[in-house]
Amino acid sequence: MDALTLLHDRVSCPVLLEPGPSKEQLEQIYQAALRAPDHGAIRPWRFLTIEGDARKNLGTLFSKAMLSDNEELSQERQEKARNMPMRAPVVIVVVAAVKEHPKVPLLEQEISAGCAAQNIILAAHALGLGAMWRTGDMAYHPVVRAGLGLSAEETVIGYIYLGSPKKVRQAPQHNQADYVQQWEGELS
Ligand SMILES: Cc1cc2nc3c(=O)[nH]c(=O)nc-3n(C[C@H](O)[C@H](O)[C@H](O)COP(=O)(O)O)c2cc1C
Repeated sequence: MDALTLLHDRVSCPVLLEPGPSKEQLEQIYQAALRAPDHGAIRPWRFLTIEGDARKNLGTLFSKAMLSDNEELSQERQEKARNMPMRAPVVIVVVAAVKEHPKVPLLEQEISAGCAAQNIILAAHALGLGAMWRTGDMAYHPVVRAGLGLSAEETVIGYIYLGSPKKVRQAPQHNQADYVQQWEGELS
């Protein structure tokens, strides 16, 4: 697949099945992540690979987090939380690991980590895999942050679910004129 076709046709895949990425494919995916643009070469990111039974531990963490907010959470909601990470063979947690820098604001560093997440998704598609970027409350909950081992400076940028797509839908077409304007400015 050529690069522009990949960029134009990429779609998210909410239902992801086995097989997940092989070890070699995961290496390719992480190499792409590590090529994200990065002002000041700060490398403001780290990644957690969660696969196999470790997904169950993440699910338990989600359920614990929800129970900490509502100790009367129904069994059904607890079960749903436990099953969230089972929606794909592999989940990558993209973490922005930012630090104060004299020239690079923290926002720019978080954007870089977001670019790394996008590179993961694009690399997955280039390899014929499917991907879905998810966040929700479980990306920001203190119980989850602690369970994932995040420091105070770190943020979950997203959970990237990876696997074999059940179905790949057609990418929607957008009207560029709705978003793109020519700017000429004024000569004074
Ligand atoms: C930062 C971020 C967080 C997201 N979180 C969720 C989420 O929690 N649940 C969800 O269904 N989609 C989420 N999305 C949107 C999907 O990843 C996806 O982009 C959207 O469904 C549109 O599909 P498309 O990528 O095929 O256009 C998120 C996207 C981004 C960039």
